[in-house]
Amino acid sequence: MSIKSLVILFSGEGTNLENIIKKLHKKEFNGVGIEVALAITNNPNANGIKRAKRYGVDVKIIDHKNFATREEFDKALVTAIKIVDPNLVVLAGFMRILTPIFTSNIKNAINIHPSLLPLFKGANAIEASFKSQMRVAGVTVHMVSKELDSGKILDQCCFHRGDESFEEFKKKIHQLEYKLYPEVIKKILLKDTFD
Ligand code: GRF
Repeated sequence: MSIKSLVILFSGEGTNLENIIKKLHKKEFNGVGIEVALAITNNPNANGIKRAKRYGVDVKIIDHKNFATREEFDKALVTAIKIVDPNLVVLAGFMRILTPIFTSNIKNAINIHPSLLPLFKGANAIEASFKSQMRVAGVTVHMVSKELDSGKILDQCCFHRGDESFEEFKKKIHQLEYKLYPEVIKKILLKDTFD
């Protein structure tokens, strides 16, 4: 059995992190074993730390506040990732803007964004798509590239809007994330391609 490894980056609640661990960590699919080798957070108070540890996944804290510049922080992040040398780097609620230090060194990274890109890039995507006139809403998995939320789109998933409250809307978005992200990760690892 071949083993494919993941490094997951997160910053806060970590529900996507936990969902990916639950569905993929130490599981085998068509003779391919998947392992979350390491989770890395920039936030020492992130709830995701407890979630990862509950499943026995190692967590490394690289607090961005200990670095004078984004570049210095990214250097430390790249070094930590390269030590593991994972098949795939998964950003799951990682709330840091990355510099070319990261994007030119780590070419196998993907992210999930809670809108139908290229619409509603940036930090307030759920609010922006809720307030918009769009009759559908959804989520996007994309490659990480040097421009924020702009890398190659790998997959998307959406729902037709009804008269949901904001809370209901947000819940539907998160449910789509939990469904789509592990599927895309699995497909990349099993097929060995981002195409
Ligand atoms: C998710 O909605 C993700 O798309 C966005 O940040 C949120 C993270 O939530 N980038 P969690 O930490 O996975 O619970």
